[in-house]
Parts: sequence; C-alpha cells; structure tokens
Amino acid sequence: MEFSIKSGSPEKQRSGCVVVGVFEGRKLTASAQAIDAASGGFVTEVLRRGDLEGSLGKTLLLHSVPKVPADRILLVGLGREREFNEPGFRNAMSAAVKALKSTGASDATVCLTDVPLKRHDTGWKVEHAVLAIMEGAYRFDRLKSKAPENKRALRKVVLHVARRNEIGEGEVAVERGVAIAEGMALAKDLGNLPGNICTPSYLADQAVDLGKRHGIKVEVLDQKDCEKLGMGCFLAVARGSNQPPKFIVMEYQGGKRDQAPVALVGKGITFDTGGISIKPAAEMDEMKFDMCGAASVLGTMKAIALMRLPLNVVGVVPTTENMPGGRAIKPGDIVTTMSGQTVEILNTDAEGRLILCDALTYVEKYKPVAVVDIATLTGAMVIALGHVATGLFANSDPLARELIQAGETAWDRAWHMPLWDDYQEALKSNFADFPNIGPRAGGSITAACFLSRFTKSYPWAHLDIAGTAWKSGAEKGATGRPVPLLSHFLVKRAA
Ligand code: BES
Ligand code: MN
Ligand code: ZN
Repeated sequence: MEFSIKSGSPEKQRSGCVVVGVFEGRKLTASAQAIDAASGGFVTEVLRRGDLEGSLGKTLLLHSVPKVPADRILLVGLGREREFNEPGFRNAMSAAVKALKSTGASDATVCLTDVPLKRHDTGWKVEHAVLAIMEGAYRFDRLKSKAPENKRALRKVVLHVARRNEIGEGEVAVERGVAIAEGMALAKDLGNLPGNICTPSYLADQAVDLGKRHGIKVEVLDQKDCEKLGMGCFLAVARGSNQPPKFIVMEYQGGKRDQAPVALVGKGITFDTGGISIKPAAEMDEMKFDMCGAASVLGTMKAIALMRLPLNVVGVVPTTENMPGGRAIKPGDIVTTMSGQTVEILNTDAEGRLILCDALTYVEKYKPVAVVDIATLTGAMVIALGHVATGLFANSDPLARELIQAGETAWDRAWHMPLWDDYQEALKSNFADFPNIGPRAGGSITAACFLSRFTKSYPWAHLDIAGTAWKSGAEKGATGRPVPLLSHFLVKRAA
C-alpha cells in the first residue's frame, strides 16, 4: 500500500474514489461541500432523496458525479457533529475501507482525515486512517490451495489534510502508521499459522529472519543452553513435546550503547493442549493462538526497527508446545526455576507462567529500565474484561500509567488490575516454595502474583491478552494486539 498526504481541492482529484464525510442531518463536511459545489449541488440533491442521513458508519457510493474528475465519490456517515470522537473516526474509517473494497477502485483520496476532531491532531487521524486501511487490506490466505479471486485491490491512498502546514505532520504519521500496521501484520500471520507449521523452531527462524532484515541481533538458545542456565521451569513444560524448545533473544540497539534497555517478554506456547491436565476438545484449535504474546514481541520489534526508534529494546521469547506424554510433567511435580525458587506444578495447564518466570529471571542480566511481559495467560481474563481491554498488572504505578496512556493513544486499550499483597496469600504449597495455581477466584490476579515473584529487581508490567489477542467465531483470527500499545509506549519512551 502506498500512502501520501495532500491538502487542497478534493473536487479536483483524479482518483478512483474520493471519500468524504457527512454528519447526521445531511450536514456536509468541508470536503463534501467542495464536491457538492463543483458538481452543481449534485450531492445535496442525492441526499435530499433520503439515501444517506449521515448516521455513523453508513456509506453511499456515487458514480459519475457531474464536473468532478474522480470515478466515484464515497459518502460516509459520521454521526452527530458535536459527538464526533475517536471511536467515531475509527468506525467511519473502517466503514469507508469496507465500502472501498467492494468497488474496483485501485486508488482513493480519503478526506476523512481533514475533519476536525476535538482531542486529536492530524497526526493521530492520519495514523489511524493508515491502520484502518492496512487492517482492511490484511488477508491470511497462504494456506488456501487456490488464491481467492481478487478484483483490483486498493493500492494507492491519498490522505487529505485541511491545511498545507499539516502535511509534514501527516507524513511522519504515515510512517508511524505503516510501521505499526506492518508489525501487526507479522503478529497476525504468526498467530494465524497453525501449530503444525508455527512450531518453536519456526518462531525462532522467523526471529532470525527479522533480525537479518532489520539489523536486530538475534540469538536462539536451545535446550542444552537453557539447562546450563538452570531454566528448570521452562524446560519442565517442554518435556511433553517432541518439538525442541527454543529461547529467543532479540536485541534492538537504537540508542546509546550503554543505555539500559526496555525488555519485552512474550509467551510463546505454539500449542497449548493443557498437558496432562488436558483441556476439553471444544475450541481447542484456538490454543494455536497461545503464542500471540510472542508474536506481539516480534511484531513490535519490527515496528520499532521500521521507525528506527532511538532506544534499546530486548525482546525475549521462551517458546515450546504444552503436550501430554510419557515424559510430560505431572500434577504434583516440583521443579526449580532459574531464580532458585521451587514450584509445585498443581495444574500443567497453568504453563504460561512456568515458561515466563525463567524468562523474567533471564532478563535481569540486562539491568532493564522496565520489563513488560505479554501473554495469553488466563481464561479468567476473558471473563473479567471480555474482548475489549487487555488486563494490565504492574509492580510500578508510573509504568502502569505509561502503558495505559499508550493504549489510549493507540486505541488498543488496557485496564489496570489490582496486584495487592492480599492476593499473594492464594499461592501456598506444603511441598515447594509455592504452587503454580491458586483457587479459581481471581485467577488472572494470582497468575500475575506468581509472575511478580520473579520481578523484584526492576519496574515490571504484565499484559494478559487472553481476551484481546484473537477473535473467535466467523471472524476467527489474530488481532495483532497489543502491538499498537507497545509501539506507542516505546515511541514515547524514545522521545
Ligand atoms: N492459554 C491458556 C489461557 C487461555 C485460555 C487463554 C482460554 C485464552 C482462552 C492458559 O495456559 C491456561 O490454560 N490457563 C488456565 C489456568 C488455570 C489452569 C489456573 C486457565 O485459564 O484455565
Ligand atoms: Mn494452559
Ligand atoms: Zn496457555
């Protein structure tokens, strides 16, 4: 997809389609007015017939509009003018993209980015327009035997801004939007790939490849290396699988050599059967998405490398399958973590925390300024927050606030959950230092409590993306979240 920024005369654009907004009550935006005037009132005349009132997300495609060089004009409802806000903008953009896709236009001029939005500047609108367009263009059909028939797809988009002096800001935002969208597409691809293709070795190969293309140093530790480091807990989970585990370490050096890095740690369970505490069969296929935390780390590394952010970031991904088998861990088994603490594995399906804890100890060697782990950790998170917000837990309030804010800006929102000491009571074992599960109540919080026991030496946050990393049902597929949140967090840190 090719993006450019322009200002001035939407009515004069030679374009496959010019997209303009209409507020409720058939109130034309400035660009819609310009087209209406040039066409001798054609738009007002059509609206008078009642085909579009301007309610949010409704669209109307016009062909052969008189005295306008564009092949088509797409009118997009923006809702009430006084209430036009961020979700409204995103809604209108997605509706526009959907309508554009059903036309044969291979290029378009989108004039929704010139509509004033109360709390946001042109940069925000342009970035989100780019994201909506690239998300709309995303396809995962590489495993279909025949490529689905595709008419002329959208290839070139001009984003229209109100004033000339906004072009520079718009161009910076295009780069940011494209970088984030590319990162999301990588995260989606990895998430959508099935467990028989996206194995731990495949993920490691992808990381190495990403490193080569973008100048990121990548090292892959194998089972022997992990044994030497004492990662007893990570390796315990890997025991049941015939696929060799991999421990991926990516180092992006955009800042000064001695600058302490931010570390991102992603859960990379390429398939979660539950192990001996096996899961029920229904919807188990969705457990191929149990590496979406890892995928978001690779995606974010790609995004920040594309943006050339001036800071240092380490991405760490422990990756393995969680399988039952003759060598698999059993309920009651006790293992020693890299930190030296012992864990009684009461449920082999609570495996995410078991692979993350050793990774959280491993990153201590970087003396990181902050550590963020990302994991499809608990089903309880889906019960608590549904599919809208990611659950955020932290041992540092400033870090939590930073991430919440980044999520707001990126429109990839997270909600701060409690991590009070009172909840730590739930983790008691008669035989080891602590167990890997607590009672059912507050399951997401006790999972975070477990992780907190490995993160004493740095500011740390945990993102439980169990409800946000993928969609089920007719639109089943990875979402690419929380690449936008993480990217914005790092953009702000780099500034
Ligand atoms: N990967 C799952 C969490 C999950 C389940 C995410 C369903 C999204 C949808 C995780 O490994 C898991 O199985 N967690 C258990 C923990 C329990 C045994 C304490 C869960 O949530 O049931
Ligand atoms: Mn599990
Ligand atoms: Zn899992």
